[in-house]
Amino acid sequence: MTQTAKPVTSPHHAPMLEVKDVTVTFGGLNAVDGAELVLGDNELLGFIGPNGAGKTTLMRAIIGMLTPAKGRIILDGQDVSNRRIVERINLGMALAQQIIKPLKDMTLLDNVALAAGGGKLLSPIKAMWHRSRQYEQDVASALLAEVGLAAVIHKYPSELPLGYLKRLEVARALARQPKVLLLDEPLAGLSKKESEEMADLIMGLPRQGRSVILIEHNLAQVRRICKILYVQNNGRPLAFGKTDEVLAKREVQLAYLGKTE
Ligand SMILES: Nc1ncnc2c1ncn2[C@@H]1O[C@H](COP(=O)(O)OP(=O)(O)OP(=O)(O)O)[C@@H](O)[C@H]1O
Ligand SMILES: [Mg+2]
Repeated sequence: MTQTAKPVTSPHHAPMLEVKDVTVTFGGLNAVDGAELVLGDNELLGFIGPNGAGKTTLMRAIIGMLTPAKGRIILDGQDVSNRRIVERINLGMALAQQIIKPLKDMTLLDNVALAAGGGKLLSPIKAMWHRSRQYEQDVASALLAEVGLAAVIHKYPSELPLGYLKRLEVARALARQPKVLLLDEPLAGLSKKESEEMADLIMGLPRQGRSVILIEHNLAQVRRICKILYVQNNGRPLAFGKTDEVLAKREVQLAYLGKTE
């Protein structure tokens, strides 16, 4: 892999996330094979690659849903490779999944307030009893406003179109104030206009102490909002660096030929 640009990080701050030589094996096949990336503070990294490239698998390994065969995951200078998913969430990781699963019997406000009820993620029922309700509702309402859903906080998921639910998923992921937010295809299934609006929202998410990795097939939007790209193909790292330079590489273009959706 050639690295054309180093992500810019503050000299006083470790990278928010380092993925070092991560390999994930399913039944003898490497779905991810030697993944390497560095995410600086306050950055938005686009993570692309053809279908089956192992993007979702790497995300799951980063947050701890899967155990890699080898490699290290470093979150804000701390090695979390042996930490369980709940611990990684507590330390500042969040994943907005490709298939969204809001709790159907709760309003948007309660969905996000539940997520904000830190440390009780294993049991939503317990979380409902123990949370300090007002504080969590305040956090939830601020987050729903941040993702553009202020007008519908008392609606139920079934009353709203997919574009709104994808925003809800982002608000839920933000509820524990993650240092590293992982977004898996947040634009999938959205109309062109909704995609553009969602991309605008994602572009505004990074800040001091909060960085974002965006997995997306919508290259037009990725190109528009991400300054840095990581490309994976057949599980292997193919390119990492400035967006225009990465997309101009022949090996990246070849990987996409005949494979894009
Ligand atoms: N739990 C699993 N068990 C066995 N094989 C798996 C599992 N999850 C993924 N795979 C395989 O690993 C490879 C990578 O899949 P993955 O879903 O990570 O790709 P992706 O880059 O996210 O693709 P897409 O863009 O279509 O979402 C594929 O060949 C897939 O079939
Ligand atoms: Mg995927």
